[in-house]
Amino acid sequence: MRVDPKISVWQGGITSFTNTPSQTTMNVFAIGASRNIGYFAAVRLLNKGATVTFLLRSPSVFDDDQVIQRYVQSGHARLIQGDGLNASDVAKAWELALEGSAHVDLVLFTLGQ
Ligand SMILES: NC(=O)c1ccc[n+]([C@@H]2O[C@H](COP(=O)([O-])OP(=O)(O)OC[C@H]3O[C@@H](n4cnc5c(N)ncnc54)[C@H](OP(=O)(O)O)[C@@H]3O)[C@@H](O)[C@H]2O)c1
Repeated sequence: MRVDPKISVWQGGITSFTNTPSQTTMNVFAIGASRNIGYFAAVRLLNKGATVTFLLRSPSVFDDDQVIQRYVQSGHARLIQGDGLNASDVAKAWELALEGSAHVDLVLFTLGQ
C-alpha cells in the first residue's frame, strides 16, 4: 500500500471544510461515507470537483441517490464493495482509488456504527 507522506486524514466529527478551495481536483478515499458526516463531506468534495472512491459494505445504498449516481456516471464517484475493518478489502479499494492518479490526497475516515 502506497501512502503519500503529505496525506491528510480527517477523523469523524469534522463539520465544515472552510479551508478547502472553491474547486479542487483532490483524489479522496472515503471509508464510512454511506451517510451522515462522511456522506455530506464527500458530496461537498464532489461538488468542488474532487474524485471520491467510496468503500461501502453495501454499494446499493446509493442506488436511488441521484446526486451520487450523477457523479458515478461522470467517473468522479467510484463505489467499491468491502468492509472497512477488513485489511484486504481496504487495500483493494486503495489500489482502485489510485487508478488514474499518482496518489490519494485525502482519506475521509468516518467509520461509525
Ligand atoms: N454524528 C455525530 O454527531 C458525531 C459526533 C462526533 C463524532 N462522531 C463520529 O464520527 C463518525 C461518523 O459518525 P456518523 O454519525 O456520521 O456516522 P454513522 O451514522 O455512525 O455511520 C457510520 C458509517 O460507517 C459505515 N461503517 C460502519 N462499519 C463499517 C465497516 N465495517 N465497513 C465499512 N463501513 C462501515 C457505515 O456504513 P453502512 O452503510 O455499511 O452501515 C456508515 O457509513 C463515527 O466514528 C462517530 O462516532 C459522530
